[in-house]
Amino acid sequence: MKVVIDRELCQGHGRCFSIAPSIFDFDELGNGVVIGDGSLDENTVEMARLAQANCPEHAIFIEE
Ligand code: F3S
Repeated sequence: MKVVIDRELCQGHGRCFSIAPSIFDFDELGNGVVIGDGSLDENTVEMARLAQANCPEHAIFIEE
C-alpha cells in the first residue's frame, strides 16, 4: 500500500502532518507532502487512514 497527496487538491490545512508526522511533511508553501515513497505497512496504514479521513480537501489517497 502507498499513500499519495494530490497536490492540485491540497490547500495546506496541515492536518496530515499534524496527525501523522512520520508519514507526512510540508513543503515551502505549507502544503502537505508524503515523506519518502509513501509506502505503508501494517504499523503506518491506520495513521495514514486517519489523516485521510481528516483532510478537508480529500486530497489524500491510499492505493492498495
Ligand atoms: Fe493538504 Fe489535506 Fe494535508 S489539505 S496539508 S493534504 S490535511
